[in-house]
Amino acid sequence: MEKQKGSASISTLSIVQMNDVSASYDSKDYVLKNIRLSIPRGANYAIVGQSGSGKSTLLKLINGMMHPSNGKVLVDYKVPNTSDRKFKPFMHKIGYIPQNLGLIKNSTVLENILIGALPRVNGFNSFFKNFPDSEIKNAKKILKQVGLQGKAERKVYMLSGGEKRRVAIARALVQKPEIILADEIVSELDHMTAREIMDVLAEAQSTMNLTAIMVHHDLQLALEYADRVAVIKEGEKILEIGVEADRIVDFQTGNYTQKEILEMFNTESKE
Ligand SMILES: Nc1ncnc2c1ncn2[C@@H]1O[C@H](COP(=O)(O)OP(=O)(O)OP(=O)(O)O)[C@@H](O)[C@H]1O
Ligand SMILES: [Mg+2]
Repeated sequence: MEKQKGSASISTLSIVQMNDVSASYDSKDYVLKNIRLSIPRGANYAIVGQSGSGKSTLLKLINGMMHPSNGKVLVDYKVPNTSDRKFKPFMHKIGYIPQNLGLIKNSTVLENILIGALPRVNGFNSFFKNFPDSEIKNAKKILKQVGLQGKAERKVYMLSGGEKRRVAIARALVQKPEIILADEIVSELDHMTAREIMDVLAEAQSTMNLTAIMVHHDLQLALEYADRVAVIKEGEKILEIGVEADRIVDFQTGNYTQKEILEMFNTESKE
């Protein structure tokens, strides 16, 4: 299995740390249980699991939209909380791409991408979405970087699935983030388009020195691109694996062979 990724330089310091984190939506049933994670700055980290296993919830804990019931989440040594004024300046450093992409379908590609620049535009101008020339120039540069040249004025509802994903990536990159959180950004795409989109992200990650944390359904694809893959089952992290010198390495227990890991996952996905 050959690595396709182009990681940023990986630090030994972790940018995301979770210590025995549990999370619940109704303070009764835990949808995440005792999650321990340490994601190094600059890593390309993937989270894989079946539908309902808690992947999106995990990303929401990282961007501060949700808070743990037990345990502690730290992002760059701060407790993420979208309603905390102290965390607000750092929130813009997290380029979050939700599972439904969160694009404004009746607006153009450029208008959608510029939303990523809103935190840098002062109050009055931001209300009327008046962007300085420097921001428009930068947005157009990123538009090209993600392969959307010639599409700036196109309305988003006219775009293909792959192009919509490129818009969502560009909007996140315009934020000038330190972390990209992408929730199933390539699910439902054909094999080739999925890889094109993953390559755009890998390229951005290495040139802009980002930490990427991505949720996937496909373990094979996750292993191709990520340094490490956390496998979540029913809210628990059951594995943390990666490819090193063409072998799958289990960082969590060291007990499984490559064949066992793939078999384990394949059996589960057929349930
Ligand atoms: N807003 C919510 N209120 C109550 N329960 C929720 C809410 N969001 C998610 N859940 C529940 O939490 C569990 C985990 O959901 P989550 O969306 O994190 O899973 P997922 O792994 O992202 O699934 P998928 O692959 O389908 O996107 C599920 O049982 C889901 O029903
Ligand atoms: Mg999800």
